[in-house]
Amino acid sequence: MAERIPIASDHAGFELKEKIKRQLTALGFDVQDLGTHSPDATDYADYAHPLAAEVERGEVRRGVLLCGTGLGMSYAANRHPHVRAAVAWTPEIAELARRHNNANVLVLPARFLSDSDSAAILKAWLDTPFEGGRHERRVGKIELENGG
Ligand code: RB5
Repeated sequence: MAERIPIASDHAGFELKEKIKRQLTALGFDVQDLGTHSPDATDYADYAHPLAAEVERGEVRRGVLLCGTGLGMSYAANRHPHVRAAVAWTPEIAELARRHNNANVLVLPARFLSDSDSAAILKAWLDTPFEGGRHERRVGKIELENGG
């Protein structure tokens, strides 16, 4: 069965979200579009929270968020326990976000990426495994329930 991947953006990420959806579908994922559904102005947190809640509850392994800078979406998503939302603006950052930080949400700064950059960033994030080992301990310490 295809892995379901939720994706959401505000108005600033809307156009790129539509392109990323096509890329994910072509790669065989079951894409769940949580909005926004038009370029009309919206508030990023209204879209970040429902997606992050799915990741927090373990209903999906990972998800993708987009806004202008990536920052607002990441702030909101990272309020959720067990969500590690990484803003990535190069494939190398995306790869390290997986390898070292086990990022389960990719956040794309839509206003600062070309289509080809964002496609390469998405691919790097999708394809890179978590390295575990010493990074497992470090990632574990992020959670407040572990004594942070
Ligand atoms: C919207 O104009 C913009 O502020 C938003 O997309 C995002 O960049 C916020 O972090």
